[in-house]
Amino acid sequence: KPRLYSGIQPSSDSLHLGNYVGALLQFRAMQGEYDAFFSIVDLHALTNAAFDPKSLAAASRGLAAQYIAAGVDPGKSTLYVQSHVPAHAQLAWVLNTITGFGEASRMTQFKDKSQRFGAEGTTVGLFDYPVLMAADILLFDTEVVPVGDDQKQHIELTRNLAERFNARFGEVFTVPVGQYPEEGARIYDLQEPTSKMSKSAATDAGLIWVLDEPSVTRKKIMRAVTDTGAEVKYDWTTKPGVTNLLEIYTAITGSSVADAEAVFAGKGYGDFKRTVADAVIAELEPVRARALELLADPAELDRLLALNAARANEVAEATLKRVYEAVGILPRV
Ligand code: TYM
Repeated sequence: KPRLYSGIQPSSDSLHLGNYVGALLQFRAMQGEYDAFFSIVDLHALTNAAFDPKSLAAASRGLAAQYIAAGVDPGKSTLYVQSHVPAHAQLAWVLNTITGFGEASRMTQFKDKSQRFGAEGTTVGLFDYPVLMAADILLFDTEVVPVGDDQKQHIELTRNLAERFNARFGEVFTVPVGQYPEEGARIYDLQEPTSKMSKSAATDAGLIWVLDEPSVTRKKIMRAVTDTGAEVKYDWTTKPGVTNLLEIYTAITGSSVADAEAVFAGKGYGDFKRTVADAVIAELEPVRARALELLADPAELDRLLALNAARANEVAEATLKRVYEAVGILPRV
């Protein structure tokens, strides 16, 4: 089976709907056809200005529970914590030495975050984030990386680094491709449908959290900003609010935009939102319940993560060995 790799940061207690639609829905759909590796990228989470050492371990465990509750099977796929596999940081160092300062400076996510985090929050770690991400992917001879479309530039950098390394040191890396969902590649904030749904939003009102109570989710969707006019039509320029809700609806139900528009033809925004809320709740409620159940037994989660980390370490160590050989490092005998 071809190799698949993706990761999510444990940067809050709950995932939001953007992560769920952009990442987890794809993971669940794809894992059967791939030898899949999914990571909880805690080393990446250290680069967030708001990161809190007191909640990181719980967030990692919580993310493991949400992965499993959303349908990632830790018996079939390898679900593990990034820091449990030391080769990630080791390969990132080697890749640092072939990454241009200029090309890393051009990463738009770095530019956005450094603006938000300010001078103190803009660390070398934040700058290096995409190189560590490239290391994650390249360690596993990955062919396909399912992510939301905000990660396109990082995937391009990963491909460039793989090709550059191979050209300079010999064919060591598989050059991966990104895979972006057709619907829901990008979910926007419900209160500000021109910015993507993100943990760093100014208010919580525009974010749907996977672990929110259904009543909270319903309220947030009913209060989502809509647009002038009364028609439910897919059009990002004139109707970003409505279009975002349609995007969420089609991603979750699997229906096409045309079918969804037909369903809502002649209906008001109130009815439309109610139906979207029903669909989101029907999807998330069982995930929330299962995640909370799993979290009631943290020792079992930790045991699963340890087993999976052992599997990940085997693959990762073999790749790192090839890399060290290729760059001519004196082997430790
Ligand atoms: P993170 O945790 O920020 O996001 C996890 C996944 O959620 C997607 N996503 C979205 N999709 C649609 N709409 C949104 N509003 C939205 N917000 C987030 C992201 O595209 C991502 O797929 N850098 C990665 C983490 C990572 C990684 C990797 C991914 C580290 N190493 C290796 C793949 C392979 C990230 O964005 O995490």
